[in-house]
Amino acid sequence: MKVVFVILCALSICLGGDSTQTKTVPDVSYDHLLHPLKLKDGELFLQVKSGNAKDITSPAVYKLSDFEKVARGTATGIQLDFGNKNLKGMLHYGLIVYGDSRFPMPVFYKKTAKIEEGSTHIPVLDNLSKDHDAVNWQETGRGVIGYRVVSNRGRLLYEGKVAFSGKGPFSVVPTVIEGPFVHNVTHDSAIISFETDSKTESSLNVNGTFYSQNPPATMHIYQLNNLQPDSQYQYRLSVGSHVEGYSFKTPPVPGSRKKFKFAYASDSRGGSGGGERDLYGVNAYILKKIMALFVQQDCVFFQFSGDLINGYLSEPAEMRLQYRNFKRAVEPFAHYFPIYYSIGNHELLMKTFLIDKQPVFVDNFPYETHSAEVVFANEFINPESDLVSEDGSRWDPDPDHVNFPPYKETVFQYRYDNIAVVVLNSNYWYAPLISRIPESGGNLHGYIMDNQMKWLEKTLHQLEADRTIDHVFVTLHTPFFPNSGHVVDDMWYSGNNEPRPTIKGTPVEKGIIERRDELLDLIVNRSSKPIALLTGDEHNYCRTLIDDAMPRYPENYPGRKVKLKRSIYQINNGSAGAPYYAIQQTPWTEHTSSFTTQTALCVIEVEGPKVSMVVINPDTLEEIDSVVLR
Ligand SMILES: [Fe+2]
Repeated sequence: MKVVFVILCALSICLGGDSTQTKTVPDVSYDHLLHPLKLKDGELFLQVKSGNAKDITSPAVYKLSDFEKVARGTATGIQLDFGNKNLKGMLHYGLIVYGDSRFPMPVFYKKTAKIEEGSTHIPVLDNLSKDHDAVNWQETGRGVIGYRVVSNRGRLLYEGKVAFSGKGPFSVVPTVIEGPFVHNVTHDSAIISFETDSKTESSLNVNGTFYSQNPPATMHIYQLNNLQPDSQYQYRLSVGSHVEGYSFKTPPVPGSRKKFKFAYASDSRGGSGGGERDLYGVNAYILKKIMALFVQQDCVFFQFSGDLINGYLSEPAEMRLQYRNFKRAVEPFAHYFPIYYSIGNHELLMKTFLIDKQPVFVDNFPYETHSAEVVFANEFINPESDLVSEDGSRWDPDPDHVNFPPYKETVFQYRYDNIAVVVLNSNYWYAPLISRIPESGGNLHGYIMDNQMKWLEKTLHQLEADRTIDHVFVTLHTPFFPNSGHVVDDMWYSGNNEPRPTIKGTPVEKGIIERRDELLDLIVNRSSKPIALLTGDEHNYCRTLIDDAMPRYPENYPGRKVKLKRSIYQINNGSAGAPYYAIQQTPWTEHTSSFTTQTALCVIEVEGPKVSMVVINPDTLEEIDSVVLR
């Protein structure tokens, strides 16, 4: 592996052609940058060892702000003036009948409205009245409309909501545009959150106890404490005169060993096939099917491990649009149950340079506002851990300062009764081309860095000693043993141990296969409770029995080989809607079973010491696999 070793300090450069925008290049990355920015022929370049590096980061195509806070009332309806004036297409619209079902969604009217030059009008008075007034707004003078923006090429871009008052003329009033969601439900606590389009007060009634948000805000986050275990809670939010009501249930006291089910899937980014299979970066069609199956199967929580969206974007505002589309698809169901999210490679928010005609992608910066990790943590509410970042590891070139992005809400553990789920981030500080261009600096797809390893070791040790916990599931986006489209990377790299992170010009000591073995040693040999690795990235379902008999090294592997004292399952389910990958031959193919390119939901049932799993196609309800895990 040829690595260019260059030592340099943090550089202050101007980026994106905006001379007022000065950003500091993180000094743990960008090993190739030799000199600060230069102006050449009116364009901005970074001079590097072998020439120039041009900032070619792509601007956003669409932003969340193009579609939100764009409504105003008119004499006969609602006018929408989108942020993108080139937008042409059509708008589907319809009233949302809250209270009509457990899972409110718009009932779309039979006609659409044309979008021209980024504007359209919803004719409430003419089209949503009389026998189409499903919410009785003609009496009450209020309602909520759901709408769907479709481009003139037929691509779904966004699903929105707007609340109105009046009987004509109409006014737009503060609208709950996202949620409510239930998060981090323990036997005695929970969080309920929702977002409004404008700053407003809100209140929440939980089984008769009132909470309120004051002063006015757009993010409404309610921390509920002192709840009773194994209990049903009805909750009702109020924003102005708008009310929505749902419920959630707390788990039993840890270690009760009651019977319950939870669900696992990942990889729901935009799929092929048209229509709702690609709601601007999200396969909303399969996601809704998966969530409906999740409810039908009586699951109590959902673990979703990465690649929620197409991502690989540069502006937080475009990432937020795709995250909004993801959350809109799961929203009707997530009013009732927590979903725990982890990060995948497609959650990358990146900066792109062209160096010697070769594009180089790295985690965007400043890390405090523009890293993939921070944008993800701002968009989702997950549990937190005491793992801060890779600062302070033996590879940190500057121990006195924070140089790495935060792990916040991307690495954590949570519990339900007698199980724990340990969530890892195998795309932390991700630089997509690091295996080919080590001098770009950054972390490798699939690599768990040193501080995260230490956290995992400590966490597994604690769980091993915890008498309330019988089973541990370890989840991360990338499989240990890929079987299809990611045989060339994940934790195998076609059998090459050479790929590894590079920090300020220095490749770390352990290669990807050595690190995989250290993980297996921790999870399989030094712990007894981990029962399965829940992985994704590859867009298929595949179960792999990992044991010592399984071939897991390339030919003539010179490194130390780890013996496995017991077996563990790798349950790969990246089948939540992303485009498929076909099966490939690997040394461990004979240890795999039930491979399918069909979409799949894993439903895992726990009853005291027993754990079993059924895997169901959410589109056809066909059973794909059924297995006793313990
Ligand atoms: Fe992935």
